Amino acid sequence: MKSQHLILALSALALVACDSSTTEEPAEVFVPQSEPAKTVEVLHWWTSGGEAEALEVLKSDVESKGFVWQDMPIAGGGGDAAMTVLRSRITSGNAPTAAQMLGFDIRDWAKIDGAVGDLTPTALKEDWDNVVPVALQEFSKYNEKWVAAPVNVHSTNWIWINKEALDATGGKVPTTWNELVKVLDGMKEDNIIPLAHGGQAWQDATIFDAVVLSLGKDFYKASMIDLNPEALGGPKMVEAFRRMSVLRSYVDDDFSGRDWNLASAMVIEGKAGMQMMGDWAKAEFLNAGKQPGQDFVCIRFPGTEGSVTFNSDQFVTFDIRESDKDAQQALGSSVMNRSFQSSFNVIKGSVPARIDVSDSDFDDCGKKGIKDLSEANSSGTLYGSMAHGHAAPAPVKNAVYDVVTSHFNGKYNDAEATQALVTAIAAAK
Ligand code: GAL
Repeated sequence: MKSQHLILALSALALVACDSSTTEEPAEVFVPQSEPAKTVEVLHWWTSGGEAEALEVLKSDVESKGFVWQDMPIAGGGGDAAMTVLRSRITSGNAPTAAQMLGFDIRDWAKIDGAVGDLTPTALKEDWDNVVPVALQEFSKYNEKWVAAPVNVHSTNWIWINKEALDATGGKVPTTWNELVKVLDGMKEDNIIPLAHGGQAWQDATIFDAVVLSLGKDFYKASMIDLNPEALGGPKMVEAFRRMSVLRSYVDDDFSGRDWNLASAMVIEGKAGMQMMGDWAKAEFLNAGKQPGQDFVCIRFPGTEGSVTFNSDQFVTFDIRESDKDAQQALGSSVMNRSFQSSFNVIKGSVPARIDVSDSDFDDCGKKGIKDLSEANSSGTLYGSMAHGHAAPAPVKNAVYDVVTSHFNGKYNDAEATQALVTAIAAAK
């Protein structure tokens, strides 16, 4: 059934989707010797303390249904390394039962005949159509079939600030770009690293999401979603890169290659003042026993209040082994369970991927996340995150990564980066 044709198509996709910004070798292909009938092998990139704790909630839920959880963690925030391993597993005919996946990557796999599994039987039984926000269904469904089960909604336009460090600068939460720069300056005067950051392409791009959005929601949409060359190459984009240069000046010398959760730890420990990162960072604060409002403050990146750049982790199953099918439907059902969505997302830092989950168990940052998402959804200001694969397909995302990272590391000035962005996106489209 899995013809030569499919393998060729998958290999072609592997080449197209390959991240041009990474030079890593694909990890070794994992070949199980014998496979227990009820094993659920799940490939994911949730390896930080907070992420692993959230994953444990899913694992327990699946195991309570009588399945054996076989963990396939691939370290690397943002999931690029995980996607490289997944491609090699699928192309060698050895797909896992399911894998964590983001946005346009889901669509790319779903387009290939016979690659992904079909969760529609469970979706119909459980009425997913009426409880999953439409913006997520755009990625969960392909040709009317449910090909993925969304476990959460994260967003990238957040800042996580150490409360003591903020208080030391006067305690005023910044609501404009100039106020933000003032707080960063205050932190520098207080002899701490103002901005904790990890120099990896996806992390640079995560800040870029927020910086572009801070220059106007229409500008974010025109440049990052519509890929309009005028918006990409205009004065606002030069200003976006100027802001990136300003932020770069508040980062310490050792930022290169640092993992995002180590940057979170710097803020948790008070070595640094703040981190600009998606709300998975909150899980690190909670995991370290820190409380929002008391030990840390969560704010939307100044100028982005009212808009949300989202990414949603979804689980995709693969249409490889007949024996996996029960486990795949069971995993889909676990992921979409209403009370699971609350307990998982309370820990993960994200908000539920269903509209009917109460916010009562969430802390203040979580409550704000739920409210912001629903308001952005109804006012048309909910946009896919470019950094996390929800604004454009992988080739365009990787083009943005390359330019943003090159600029952050001094290869281009602000005007040159703007031009490079126009050229790189035009070539990738
Ligand atoms: C994102 C993902 C989050 C979080 C983060 C860092 O792409 O959606 O769940 O894991 O990467 O690893």
